[in-house]
Amino acid sequence: MNLFSQLAVEPTHEELWAGAVLMRGLALAQDAEFFAAMGTIMAEAPLHHATTPGGLPMGVMVTDCGTPEAFRRRWDPGNPEVRRLWPPMPRVLMDFALRCAVRAGFPQGRPDACHVNRYQAGTKLGMHQDRHEIDLTQPIVSVSLGLECIFLLGGLERTDKAKRILLEHGDVVVWGGPSRMRFHGVLPLKPGHHPLTGPYRYNLTFRTTCGGANHLRWGQLRLRALDHLQWG
Ligand code: SIN
Ligand code: FE2
Repeated sequence: MNLFSQLAVEPTHEELWAGAVLMRGLALAQDAEFFAAMGTIMAEAPLHHATTPGGLPMGVMVTDCGTPEAFRRRWDPGNPEVRRLWPPMPRVLMDFALRCAVRAGFPQGRPDACHVNRYQAGTKLGMHQDRHEIDLTQPIVSVSLGLECIFLLGGLERTDKAKRILLEHGDVVVWGGPSRMRFHGVLPLKPGHHPLTGPYRYNLTFRTTCGGANHLRWGQLRLRALDHLQWG
């Protein structure tokens, strides 16, 4: 159980690295609202197993929401479970992501996609960089709900030593600027039960997949190519 929900103290503001900020408890005040909004996403775009770049199923269950442009950029023709456009990002989540970005020092943040991960006991996420987005000038905003985990936030090389960070229900991490390409991952989840999420940990990562004036032309060109290839 998160200490902050019991003590009702202010969220923290902890700089992990330059451009990477941990704000413990920031999502607590609206946790039920966020979870309900996630329910609408998952009803429209059911959770499915993530797959490795080689096409193997991973333990983590995922879904997404966001703009059609963001969807097309990320759409994986090899994954038959994702056939439909993503549902739009619920307003309440979008607004929160914007506030998180501003609070962490990224006032230009304009997420157009939100990736949902669901972990259960034993599920882990290997070290990786979030490199699918065109607009790397924008930060990643990560919101954790439910069971706690150990989040690893490393360096710009996969083998760099990572910080181990306990993420609990309601915690928010934002990484951008010089930290945008840091490798990160999640250690295997410990079993447990959370009053809101049951046996699961959910993580939402908000991203700017297509945005940014400088990237618009490149994005449009790419979309046209994708249209041609994938939408017949
Ligand atoms: C991710 O990197 O996609 C998710 C990280 C997390 O679950 O905290
Ligand atoms: Fe990631």
